[in-house]
Amino acid sequence: MSSNTMNSQDLVHVLLVSFPGQGHVNPLLRLGKILASTGLLVTFSAPESVGSSMRKANKNIDELTPVGDGMIRFEFFDDALSGDDDPRRADLGAYIRLLELHGKEAVNGIIKKHEKEGRPVSCLINNPFIPWVSDIAHALNIPNAVLWVQSCACFSAYYHYNYELAQFPTQSDPEIDVQLPSMPLLKHDEIPSFLHPHSPYSVLGKAILGQFKVLSKTFCVLVETFQELESEVIDYMSKFCLIKPIGPLFKNLKSSNSSIQGDFVKADDCIDYLNSKAPASVVYVSFGSVISLNQEQTNEIAYGLLSSGVSFLWVLRPPYPHLPPVVLPEDFLEKIGERGKIVQWCAQKEVLEHPSVAYFVTHCGWNSSLEAITTGVPVVAFPGWGDQVTNAKYLVDVLELGVRLSRGDQTEKTGVSRDRIQKCLKEAIGPKAAELKKNALKWKKAAEDAVAEGGSSDRNLKDFVDKIRGVSM
Ligand code: UDX
Repeated sequence: MSSNTMNSQDLVHVLLVSFPGQGHVNPLLRLGKILASTGLLVTFSAPESVGSSMRKANKNIDELTPVGDGMIRFEFFDDALSGDDDPRRADLGAYIRLLELHGKEAVNGIIKKHEKEGRPVSCLINNPFIPWVSDIAHALNIPNAVLWVQSCACFSAYYHYNYELAQFPTQSDPEIDVQLPSMPLLKHDEIPSFLHPHSPYSVLGKAILGQFKVLSKTFCVLVETFQELESEVIDYMSKFCLIKPIGPLFKNLKSSNSSIQGDFVKADDCIDYLNSKAPASVVYVSFGSVISLNQEQTNEIAYGLLSSGVSFLWVLRPPYPHLPPVVLPEDFLEKIGERGKIVQWCAQKEVLEHPSVAYFVTHCGWNSSLEAITTGVPVVAFPGWGDQVTNAKYLVDVLELGVRLSRGDQTEKTGVSRDRIQKCLKEAIGPKAAELKKNALKWKKAAEDAVAEGGSSDRNLKDFVDKIRGVSM
């Protein structure tokens, strides 16, 4: 059936509900595009703040858009916040409660409306932080799957913590190591930091653990990873629930071919700058969409980059409206001249794929980690918190495609100095460079094989789509 003649009413309908974070929207939207391309009707839903951000970076987000053999549409809902600078956004615990209150009603309403209009929802898929979506699915008897947007190793850590299957650091014993099955020994600052008793973000740990409390309501856990990358822990966790590694979604052509993007900010152009540089000569520096650097850390990074002599592309997002503004050191831009470029947002996929990029100084968010692995770009690991510290451990010690710059906020309360940054940047381009690149390219190839026709992730996705079609017949 061509997209011109297809009628959305005839397609099996899947509803995707996303937490309003860039690191959540990106993988879920990628999954949405892949599902649509197989001939499904996908409705992607999230709070209106996501809608208004996405409209800035996309055309036609409010229209039904053909993708491959199917279609995607968007339906954003009101979360009762007045805008990006609503002070309630800064209190994450309060926001998560508010989102549940308004989101539950809204998502219920969306499902009922579609049923009335002859497009019943056959499957409901959500990402972590909004476990109430699984409750809705259960109450309405709609099959529910979760897209776990972190590594399977982190899934295992939360699972073991939730069901008290392993010993974790406690108030009285905060520095014990954690041994989980089929995983390397994790030091106290290498477990997802929200699980640490001293974490200032325990509210986020609680929100993530909420998904494990309703795991029995979910028929399948789709994981943004691939079998070959985490085979032992995937096999082990498959004893407890149906785990389907389907990533890297970023690398799947069905998701990357569509013009619809999940960016909340319009990307600045960086390609001319990268084109002007020699192959493998530029350091890409980015800390994802959540971490806000303070003034002190911004200065240290700036001087570290300056004194290391490397060319760089640095994504420096302005801090959130409730935080103090951050400025670059005086004369910094003059001093770096053509050697560096600073932007507020970039098309990270294109940047990582550019031959001029040598390595990636990253906060080790799972999307960025997987994007680096998938494009064969070695990393300098500069984790902050949450799963980032565990990802850093894997990137450096297990996959051996990076060097470690820091251990994360839990340990490095005073930040990372310019001298250490300079030393680490030199280490990454020094004698270790060839070995890191070799390993990175090995994982790139493995990722490409996983998403290729007949690869492990491709087969898992096909099984999943078959299941959705099966329940709707
Ligand atoms: C959050 C958490 O912080 C992270 O630990 C968790 O694994 C996922 O949710 P975030 O901090 O935004 O995510 O990091 P990350 O997971 O790396 O996601 C950022 C996304 O934004 C990536 O897909 C990256 O490609 C994209 N990005 C980032 C851009 O497209 N352009 C940029 O300039 C910066």
